[in-house]
Amino acid sequence: MLLAHLSDLHLDGTEQAAARARAAVDRVRAAGDAVDALLVTGDLADHGAESEYEEVAAVLAGLPFPVLTCPGNHDERRAYRKVLRDGATGDGPIDELHVLRRDGAPALAVLMCDSSIPGAGAGALSPETLAWIDTSLAALPDEVPAVLAFHHPPARLHHPLPDGLRLTRPDGLADLLARHPRVLALLTGHAHTAAATSFAGIALRSAPAVTYTLRLTWEGEGHADDTQPPGLAYHVLAPGERHVTTHFRVAA
Ligand SMILES: [Fe+2]
Repeated sequence: MLLAHLSDLHLDGTEQAAARARAAVDRVRAAGDAVDALLVTGDLADHGAESEYEEVAAVLAGLPFPVLTCPGNHDERRAYRKVLRDGATGDGPIDELHVLRRDGAPALAVLMCDSSIPGAGAGALSPETLAWIDTSLAALPDEVPAVLAFHHPPARLHHPLPDGLRLTRPDGLADLLARHPRVLALLTGHAHTAAATSFAGIALRSAPAVTYTLRLTWEGEGHADDTQPPGLAYHVLAPGERHVTTHFRVAA
């Protein structure tokens, strides 16, 4: 299984943001049918405007593999649903289960989870979302592994900006992971920097951002560096392996 992973497009009506998104998507498109799915972990839009989701829809259209998305703190659930989910309504969490198949059989479950808190920068998995994850994982066939994808990293990445706005109340997630050993990785965004760590003993990978890269505290003044090219990640999962191998790339 090969999962391409983009995050934080922050499409905002500007040509700069759109060009960076197109470059990243084109890079993944070039991998063709080697890719089983493209995950985009939130902050698709910068202000949550319907016009920004029209841009999202356009940049992600026509790809030869499934495109799986979830909201981030810059997204707005009603506009997201209206444009990206065929006019759906409601402002509850946007949680979606996708079971990817190989040779006709279920091979990997990808749970796209909504960690956004409307109006807030930090995140949380609501009781509703945690219950949905629990039920969804329990209903899968025993042999099918799973990954959870959402916007806010649940662990510190040792930078004050994302650490100050990370996933709050992560204990519920840790409890859930202890009950579901089929979960092999947590795939997030939000931090605008490629990072690999762990949470509750599970691999945690933060995709680099398509928009600006977050300078680390020892990399100089200012936090938003748009001189670096858009980033992306590829996650490889192989039958019988209980680990996820991640490669990071830039779309230069
Ligand atoms: Fe972001």
